[in-house]
Amino acid sequence: MTLWIATQRCDNVSQRASVEPISLEGPTLQLIWPWQDRNRQFSALKASAFALMLVPAIRLIYQLDTGEFGFYPLSLGGLVYWSGVWATAILLLAIAVTPAITILRWPALIDVRRMIGVTALAYTIAHLFIYFALRMWNFDRIMIEMATRLTLITATLSTIGLIALGATSLDAAIRYMGAKGWQRLHNAVYVTTVLAILHALLSRGSFPEQYVMSAAFVWLMAWRVLNRYGRGADAKALAILGVSMSLFAAGLEAWCAWLKRGYELSWTLANNFNLDLGIAPAWQLIVPGLLIALAAAAVQAAPHVRARRLQAHTEPIPAVALDARAVDQTASATR
Ligand code: HEM
Repeated sequence: MTLWIATQRCDNVSQRASVEPISLEGPTLQLIWPWQDRNRQFSALKASAFALMLVPAIRLIYQLDTGEFGFYPLSLGGLVYWSGVWATAILLLAIAVTPAITILRWPALIDVRRMIGVTALAYTIAHLFIYFALRMWNFDRIMIEMATRLTLITATLSTIGLIALGATSLDAAIRYMGAKGWQRLHNAVYVTTVLAILHALLSRGSFPEQYVMSAAFVWLMAWRVLNRYGRGADAKALAILGVSMSLFAAGLEAWCAWLKRGYELSWTLANNFNLDLGIAPAWQLIVPGLLIALAAAAVQAAPHVRARRLQAHTEPIPAVALDARAVDQTASATR
């Protein structure tokens, strides 16, 4: 846990090494709490993001305590499912930071991206341990299952990717690998997310969350294409993207229900556009899709908000943060 709240302080290491004997103790670790900025001042943005990251865990504990998942050991089934859903949702949130910065013209959001990514890793590790508990810590059975079920093979690869990204999330890793090398490695987040989505889709059950998360991922990738053509903050393009995402979710659900259960395509599609079976994936997505387009239109219409946000983000930046920001700028240009 300390890994992600600690940052290494060794400014001008190479410069110092040439004039001072190298300390055998190595660079000192300086603790930065999740609600502090790089100057160790309270940051409302980081504190809010941190609080938001805790909400799923608190909710899961509450659901467990109130018996919403049944009682132990039955409850572990529900807990595996929801911890996996939250891990994936938070991973998607991490790759939604770049679109949010562009659409809301809010560069300060970059300060919370690392926290969100590492939280996705924390939920994944919790998910993995809950799965071990569900299988009664029987590692012979676990190994066989993980090596033979396609869904668990993709899950394992995704987890390895997340661990590699988490382990290189410290400032020291950026310095060591260089901005370009670090960025190249961190672009693996897309492959890692595809594998996580495949793991969810290939699982035995058929649940709305699988289609909502898959369509959200497609939205995030399609947005990157739009952004390359300079339309990443265009309200009209975003509205079309929102509607397309909703239709994609309906189509994907119909296709998977046909493949997994043999349900008629037209039956599942029709159910996506009424509320007979609850709020279907298409409905769950159309609202956020159109709200994003509305937000883009509102920010376009309010240049003073943009100016204030840009100004608020001109605090003095230490060298390593500049490195990270250079990485982020390269990233925004390439993503
Ligand atoms: C080695 C690592 C992992 C293992 C062993 C594992 C295991 C499982 C198991 C047993 C289930 C219940 C569904 C089933 O039996 O097919 C499940 C569900 C799920 N997992 Fe994982 N998981 C791993 C990694 C991940 C990762 C990295 C993510 C995403 C970041 C994730 C997200 C999910 C989701 C969303 C579900 C719900 C899928 C559904 O049933 O519809 N899992 N996982």
